[in-house]
Amino acid sequence: MKKLFLYLFYAQIVGFYTPSFGFDDNNITLENPKLSIIGTGYVGLVTGPCMAEYFDVIGVDNNKERIETLQQGKVPFYEPGLEEIIQQGALNQRLSFTTNTKEAVEKSNIAMVCVGTPSNDQTGEADLSYIYQASKDIAQELRDDHYTLVVIKSTVPVGTCEEVSNLIENARPDLKKGIHFGVASNPEFLREGCAVEDFMHPDRIVVGVESVDEKAKALIQKLYQPFTDKGYPLVITDLRSSELCKYASNFLLALRLSAVNQLSDLSSKVDANIEEVMQSVGLDKRIGPLFLKSGPGYGGSCFPKDTLALDYMGKKNGVNLSLVKETIDYNTQRKFAMAERVMGILNKDFNVQTPNLAVFGITFKAGTDDLREAPALTIIPELLKKGAHLTIYDPLYNNKTGLKKPDWAVEWGEDLYTTTKGKDGALILTEWEDFKTMNLEALAENLKTPLLIDLRNLFDLNQIKKINYYSLGRKNVFN
Ligand code: NAD
Ligand code: UGA
Repeated sequence: MKKLFLYLFYAQIVGFYTPSFGFDDNNITLENPKLSIIGTGYVGLVTGPCMAEYFDVIGVDNNKERIETLQQGKVPFYEPGLEEIIQQGALNQRLSFTTNTKEAVEKSNIAMVCVGTPSNDQTGEADLSYIYQASKDIAQELRDDHYTLVVIKSTVPVGTCEEVSNLIENARPDLKKGIHFGVASNPEFLREGCAVEDFMHPDRIVVGVESVDEKAKALIQKLYQPFTDKGYPLVITDLRSSELCKYASNFLLALRLSAVNQLSDLSSKVDANIEEVMQSVGLDKRIGPLFLKSGPGYGGSCFPKDTLALDYMGKKNGVNLSLVKETIDYNTQRKFAMAERVMGILNKDFNVQTPNLAVFGITFKAGTDDLREAPALTIIPELLKKGAHLTIYDPLYNNKTGLKKPDWAVEWGEDLYTTTKGKDGALILTEWEDFKTMNLEALAENLKTPLLIDLRNLFDLNQIKKINYYSLGRKNVFN
């Protein structure tokens, strides 16, 4: 299959095979969704190929290098299962990529915007410049011979879809809203590391539409029919509720993790076991068992950015969202506290003042090569500032993969055991599977000081032998 795929890409590049990708200008009806996906980052590049299981899709990005990579059948970042569905989409001739917005939008009746909405450094508010630029690009290419629904899938503050709608009306006075175009909100809830699985098996699909726009509703229902037929719930709301629901979800998850992390600190002080506490808590159906693991603080491209944007929305609307602010501040402070704790263990309990430490994992969680807002980005520089010498091993950021590493004064190990040779201890920052299955006795023998500090609670306490083990919210184990 891989060979056939590569052959088709090669044939396309040298020009003796031109795929039609099923796009047929004469067949653009509300019954027949055809998608252009604007922005092929984590969200666009998962949404496009997943939707290409059912519909014709063209992925657009203004990053030429990224599109060239995709046209060669390669994925520009690590996401399990993604390469396979991209190849499947190309083989089915339902998926293609271009830098040309016109080529994509004029052949579609759904233009889905998946561009970034980063934080403004000064205020924390969501920077909507990419959204507005993409909307202008789309507006130029909308046709007057069929209806096109502009779907905002990026995470955007309340009111943004209305602004996009106004922007299109101003840019294209020749087009009528509800007749030639509409705007919908369709926030995405996938997680990196299991993005394809999450997209194909969603807990819910949320879409906000204007109540008067029957065409928008019809197209959305058709687009998500393959999912609703399988029983996945589609919730249709007004535009503003859909936009807010995305921030509400991320905030509640971030708040929950911060609460677990605070309880974890109490748990270790009072000699309880946070794993057992949360197992019991999670059996309450009103709370549920997921997302209850204490850790070094949440990271990633979304919780930090979206809580900042929500905090800004509260201020702008004169509403007290003090819990949002508290969550942001606590999570920031936790990452510094983790570095403090690690150095405290080494300095005080082991009397090592300038430790040589092995560090396992830098990505913000397992299953991704994404470093955005990873706790490691705070913890590593703090440890270096406090005099530690570090050798880091991350299965994706090892010396072999050639991924661009942060510019830190550290050594990079190739595997767990060479990284730990002769070190004063090892520190786990990311919950990679490789780390869960490591042989602790071999690790203890390899280290100069048999010490493992685990900020992800990867091991049961009764598994621990021959090594001194510090984890979160549990007793320390001395051997
Ligand atoms: P990203 O930065 O990885 O990708 C955005 C892409 O859009 C880039 O490749 C960029 O080149 C492209 N782009 C920007 N402007 C463009 C334009 N005018 N035309 C064509 N391409 C353009 O972003 P992401 O992580 O995919 O996030 C996108 C949005 O989805 C954000 O609002 C984010 O909050 C939200 N979201 C992200 C995730 C996630 O797991 N990363 C999950 C749910 C929601
Ligand atoms: C998160 C949400 O889970 C997605 O629903 C949402 O779509 C996405 O943000 C987004 O808006 O972009 P993601 O950031 O990919 O997804 O990763 P999560 O699995 O949520 O993890 C976020 C952080 O919380 C990580 O640093 C992770 O290590 C930490 N975490 C997660 C814990 O510390 N404990 C847990 O029990 C779960």
